[in-house]
Amino acid sequence: MKEIKLNNGVMMPQIGYGVFQVEPAECERCVADALKVGYRMIDTAQAYFNEEGVGAAIRKSGINRKEIFLVSKIWVSNYGYDKAKASIDESLRKLSTDYIDLMLLHQPFGDYYGAYRAMEDAYKEGKLRSVGVSNFYADRFIDLASNFEIKPAVNQMETHVFCQQQELSKYLKDFGTYLMAWGPLAEGRNNFFTHPVLTDIGKKYNKSAAQTALRYLLQRDVIIIPKSTHAERMQQNLDILDFELTGEDMDRIQQLDEKHSLIMGSHQDPEVVKWFMDFIK
Ligand SMILES: NC(=O)c1ccc[n+]([C@@H]2O[C@H](COP(=O)([O-])OP(=O)(O)OC[C@H]3O[C@@H](n4cnc5c(N)ncnc54)[C@H](OP(=O)(O)O)[C@@H]3O)[C@@H](O)[C@H]2O)c1
Repeated sequence: MKEIKLNNGVMMPQIGYGVFQVEPAECERCVADALKVGYRMIDTAQAYFNEEGVGAAIRKSGINRKEIFLVSKIWVSNYGYDKAKASIDESLRKLSTDYIDLMLLHQPFGDYYGAYRAMEDAYKEGKLRSVGVSNFYADRFIDLASNFEIKPAVNQMETHVFCQQQELSKYLKDFGTYLMAWGPLAEGRNNFFTHPVLTDIGKKYNKSAAQTALRYLLQRDVIIIPKSTHAERMQQNLDILDFELTGEDMDRIQQLDEKHSLIMGSHQDPEVVKWFMDFIK
């Protein structure tokens, strides 16, 4: 498995398996399949309500806990120092582990400063091996990263060939922060799986559109966490280490960038912010 070194020296697999929208009842089976086909990084979140399934699959897999890189996220309703601190312990219990490899703040709204402080303390206590953020656009990211001693190891953002986050990547570099792509398959938007450019490039290497697009992100040093409930697709999404896109291929795929969210909407859109404010209330 290809690994990258985070800004605190911790090693992290560059390809992982995400479990958003995987029903709690199905999650254990999916994670067990993902581990079987070779994934060693799992991305979950408090808000996915499936941390228990992830924990059970890891426990039953027989794989040494140290060989698995576990990512979770603190939800906005658990922000503020005290609630975030308690929620980290709750995640540890649900995941049946005594440490999480990477904990993220899921969204940039509410008392995320208090929550980040709680993550820093849990990091110092050894409960978290690294900390980071998710959905922090450059403005909030620079603000937060500038004000904490422990810099975010990653910023997990909607990132795929149609929303490449090239601009944000420049600012992340200032803090040694990796871009981690959620929705790396664009959740199938824009006819992703049959897209003519991706299919055409993939043909040269006997790879699918999905594999071509994931390989593009990998070559840009992005961490990826494709999700599938099907074992053969999990396998396909992992099988991207035996070919290399040329500079010309990379340029063609770069042209697909629409430079905006296709899935969730911008976290800088006032209507999106209002939705979160109502949620927090
Ligand atoms: N931080 C955040 O706010 C945030 C938000 C969203 C997601 N995430 C994380 O990112 C992970 C991935 O993102 P995502 O789940 O939103 O979307 P995604 O990985 O871009 O796409 C998943 C979709 O693609 C299908 N698929 C997967 N591999 C395929 C293949 N090789 N060929 C054809 N179809 C394929 C899946 O269907 P099947 O399952 O039916 O195979 C599913 O419908 C999540 O699971 C989660 O861990 C984080």
